[in-house]
Amino acid sequence: MTDHTPVPYTGPTRVLSGVQPSGALHLGNYLGALVKFARLQHEMDTFIFVADLHAITVWQDPAALAQQTREIAAAYLAAGLDPAKATIFPQSAVREHSELAWIFQCVARLGWLDRMTQFKEKSGKHKERSSVGLYTYPVLQAADILIYKATHVPVGEDQKQHLELTRDIAQKFNHDFGAPAFFPQPEPLIQGPGARVMSLRDGSAKMSKSDPSDYSRINLTDDADAIAGKIKKARTDPEPLPETVEELAARAEADNLVGIFAALSGKTKAEVLGEYAGKGFGAFKPALAELAVEKLAPVGETMRRYLGDPTEIDRILKAGAERASEVAAPTVAEVKKLVGFWGA
Ligand code: AMP
Ligand code: TRP
Repeated sequence: MTDHTPVPYTGPTRVLSGVQPSGALHLGNYLGALVKFARLQHEMDTFIFVADLHAITVWQDPAALAQQTREIAAAYLAAGLDPAKATIFPQSAVREHSELAWIFQCVARLGWLDRMTQFKEKSGKHKERSSVGLYTYPVLQAADILIYKATHVPVGEDQKQHLELTRDIAQKFNHDFGAPAFFPQPEPLIQGPGARVMSLRDGSAKMSKSDPSDYSRINLTDDADAIAGKIKKARTDPEPLPETVEELAARAEADNLVGIFAALSGKTKAEVLGEYAGKGFGAFKPALAELAVEKLAPVGETMRRYLGDPTEIDRILKAGAERASEVAAPTVAEVKKLVGFWGA
């Protein structure tokens, strides 16, 4: 009988995450992902990449892709990622991601992928016309994470299921190849009021790049007037703000704006309500607009400054890719040995 007792992973802690270069970044990406990346780089060895291999699971204009990659890198830097602390790189520049993804495709089970809700949402009515890559997307994501033996993965709530799949793949690989502590069981870091920022037009829909209405989201490149204007027009209800967080539960739009205020100010929703309970949106919206402009307008400006100097971004990405390869290559070499490939 094989012993199935999991053996604890004892390697170093490491943070890894990434964002796809498939459209303009918005407040949800900033609060759900970028701000957390910048905070974690002071606590752990941090790897943050631009997920360009994931982006091509749906059509990307070849003439625009490299520039979109630089834009995400500029957003990382503008959000406070420091290339001296965090390794910042394009996914496609580290070939081991694709190599490990293939091996993981042979570890993951069809039934596991069939359960992934993001594929169902993204493939829509015509799943037979989707790319195969869109279906196996979470397997590549598992490779991204495990190739660096990352232990902590900061993401928004929508990525939770992909992290569960990553843990399943790690466990099955360790078990099948008799290396019980080879890959860690990475922890998603999702907590906080910014983990699920909703549309400004509809409190039941996620703020998203693909929403046709630009008023549904605040883009990181929006200037002060645009930011303030979108908050002013955000959908709300006529009631004043309540005393307790529980009373927000049935008021999706109000809950979202209080959550955004909390995330931008580093407070809890309860603290925000402590300050604004009993006040209407006529008072709350201008305060939120002021806060959002104060926090976000400089991010947009810094992004534009970096984008004005693409050679500096390219230098950072190249150095990051070299450092990332140094960590990824030995993992893949060990994996090949465990799998039993010739010459490994
Ligand atoms: P994506 O734009 O889907 O590539 O997402 C990049 C990162 O931003 C991931 O960690 C997502 O979970 C996070 N994210 C995307 N949309 C939101 C949102 N509306 N609220 C919070 N986090 C989000
Ligand atoms: N799937 C993630 C998203 O859409 C992006 C991503 C790709 C990612 N690989 C990752 C996030 C690895 C965290 C870890 O947002």
